[in-house]
Amino acid sequence: MAEPLKIGLAGLGTVGTAVVDLLERGRDKLIARCGRPIEVVAVGARSRSKKRSIDLKKFRWIADPAALAADPAIDVFVEVIGGAGDPARRAVETALAAGKPVVTANKALLARHGHRLAVLAERHQVALNFEASVAGGIPIVKTLRESLNGDAVTRIYGILNGTCNYILSRMERDRLAFADCLREAQRLGYAEADPSFDVEGHDTAQKLAILASLSFGTKIDEAAVFVEGISSITLADLDAAAELGYRVKLLGVAVRTEAGIEQRVHPTMVPKESAIAQVLGVTNAVTVDADGLAPITLVGPGAGGMATASAVVSDLADIARGVRTPPFGRPAARMSAIRRAPMQRHEGGYYIRLLARDRPGSAAAIARRLAQQQISIESIVQRQTCSVNRRKRRAPPRPAVRASRCR
Ligand SMILES: NC(=O)c1ccc[n+]([C@@H]2O[C@H](COP(=O)([O-])OP(=O)(O)OC[C@H]3O[C@@H](n4cnc5c(N)ncnc54)[C@H](OP(=O)(O)O)[C@@H]3O)[C@@H](O)[C@H]2O)c1
Repeated sequence: MAEPLKIGLAGLGTVGTAVVDLLERGRDKLIARCGRPIEVVAVGARSRSKKRSIDLKKFRWIADPAALAADPAIDVFVEVIGGAGDPARRAVETALAAGKPVVTANKALLARHGHRLAVLAERHQVALNFEASVAGGIPIVKTLRESLNGDAVTRIYGILNGTCNYILSRMERDRLAFADCLREAQRLGYAEADPSFDVEGHDTAQKLAILASLSFGTKIDEAAVFVEGISSITLADLDAAAELGYRVKLLGVAVRTEAGIEQRVHPTMVPKESAIAQVLGVTNAVTVDADGLAPITLVGPGAGGMATASAVVSDLADIARGVRTPPFGRPAARMSAIRRAPMQRHEGGYYIRLLARDRPGSAAAIARRLAQQQISIESIVQRQTCSVNRRKRRAPPRPAVRASRCR
């Protein structure tokens, strides 16, 4: 049998321990597919004494991620530490500069430094694989990078954050407030103690920036993503959406427009019968629209140790087989700077919920203000509830929340 592919694994948390487990359990299958074993030989994490679900005695311990990346006994460096800065960044750069392929699950690192790392990987003629960085177990990176080569992607959108989708699904199903669902998500381990990164849309934005780059051949531009989270969504919004035939989802949407590439993350009303509306709970989904092709939707587990480890192991299997593709599907030198289409130029349907005093002329005044801004009204639904009547005495008219439809 051919020599094993020797792995140095930095990070032994949720993903790292699952990678060790999956490589051990899938050993024979991987040999059958790749013609050689894939073996972890050295590992590192912050604390050596921490109790973990795997037996570390078989592996050499190298605490410093950059030293592990440079270790001459490893063939491939796997980074599952996280974060856009050091030590993850320095370790990945060290491995690439030493001519070692890298597999990473780190969306923050890629969204910030993806293009520079791709240049480095190409210069040293090694793979930089990151399937696990977007939508966990869904093979969307491979699909864009290797499968849709002949098709011009026009739009890509998806549910890229399981925590937000869980919260919105629970709010709708159990008629609970946002805060209650968030607490439940934290209790179940779906949301971090500080959930703002997820619920304010920044996690989705990083993943979207990576998908946009793969879809349109542009350099990653995380700063170009318009971001609005779900923390201001109320049950009243979900009810209004349902009445109009929609469901609210936090979508990441990247579209090629005449004005450039539009990248946006915001609560979106999607038709109830659409494939993406059926995706509930922590599940992720990505839809790709390409010229001459009916939309393709991939649905699956977007996070969790095993789902993410499955993507890491798939990337390792490619390296074991000798497959190397440019990290973003084309040579880095041929990736153009993104021409940003500003959100202010975005044209689409919007839902606006307003709280207004019940007196003659209120609706006319609203219509006049919208017309002044060149906004046409497709339909108006007026409600007069007791709670609105009570609140109107205290609250002046104000916009409450808005969600734009995916167009
Ligand atoms: N969890 C998921 O479902 C998921 C899904 C997709 C992608 N990802 C990505 O996968 C990566 C890892 O996520 P995770 O959930 O496994 O994180 P995690 O559970 O927090 O594990 C992080 C690991 O990195 C180690 N570490 C942290 N700082 C370090 C340092 N300075 N030097 C050496 N080791 C250090 C930690 O060591 P100790 O254990 O000693 O503290 C821990 O083992 C992140 O980039 C994340 O975005 C995760």
